[in-house]
Amino acid sequence: MKVWIEKINNANSLEELESLRVDTLGKKGVLTKEFAKLKTIPNEEKKAFAQNLNEQKIALNEAIDTKKEVLEKEALNKKLESEIIDVTRFNNELSCASVHPVIDTMDRIITYFQNLNFAVEEGPLVEDDFHNFEALNLPKYHPARDMQDTFYNKDFTVLRTHTSPVQIRTMLSQKPPIRMIAPGTVFRRDFDLTHTPMFHQVEGLVVDSADKISFANLKHVLVEFLQHMFGEVEVRFRPSFFPFTEPSTEVDISCVFCKGDGCRVCSHTGWLEVLGCGVVDPNVFKAVGYENVSGYAFGLGVERFAMLIHNIGDLRSLFESDLKLLGQFK
Ligand code: PHE
Repeated sequence: MKVWIEKINNANSLEELESLRVDTLGKKGVLTKEFAKLKTIPNEEKKAFAQNLNEQKIALNEAIDTKKEVLEKEALNKKLESEIIDVTRFNNELSCASVHPVIDTMDRIITYFQNLNFAVEEGPLVEDDFHNFEALNLPKYHPARDMQDTFYNKDFTVLRTHTSPVQIRTMLSQKPPIRMIAPGTVFRRDFDLTHTPMFHQVEGLVVDSADKISFANLKHVLVEFLQHMFGEVEVRFRPSFFPFTEPSTEVDISCVFCKGDGCRVCSHTGWLEVLGCGVVDPNVFKAVGYENVSGYAFGLGVERFAMLIHNIGDLRSLFESDLKLLGQFK
């Protein structure tokens, strides 16, 4: 048995130790075979023979248990070493949130115009009739008010339907020249694939002496801006109507998905409408007391831009706080 005990003491792994146990104490093990001999041994020798075997068995078991403990400890240490966790390490991925695509798009638009020296102006979300409508050449009961799907409050204030009232507030509090954008939240009673009751606009207004500002300036600024946002697109100015501008146009870009060939997103026209603009109507200047000036203005929907930039089909999904969706915009 000494040989076996030595083998046990020299075992290098738990597997090796286990096979040594099987070889000695297992069903067909050497010691088990010795025990089987008891049957054939004369009675008077049996006691001594059995006692000796039992002692050997105890010795083997002890050697195995001791070695097992040592090997198990070694295995555990090895495992602890290889699976070390450094709790002081910083996990960027877990702690990093992403900017909402609408805010990200709005930031890009703001930065673009700030670089062109436009000031950023703000106004209240709850507006009165004068700033939201009347001063913008939208008298009471004018049919063009229907375009706006307004939320009215009981006290006849409204949730602003566009950022254009910020034009009025800025002109009433500052002297020309003016070069401003007004980014912000606006509200309309509208809810479908491409509309939510709350959305974001960026308004632009430039006012200077009458000889300095023309439609050509507006056109140049917007073409450059749209190509900055959407890449190499064609830009088309299509006659339209807004009460606060004259002439007014809506601006289309060639479809960013089909490059103008016609697809589902552009309703097979090859064009996508992206903003409204025009030369400021003289009645607006009259309402704020400006004389001998000329100006241009534009207004765009930030969600529309975000949807086209990120190929988002349903605008409403952006406001469901679904982290799986929002996480894609990191
Ligand atoms: N206020 C207009 C709208 O919300 C957009 C616009 C702004 C159009 C400025 C022309 C000039 O639809």
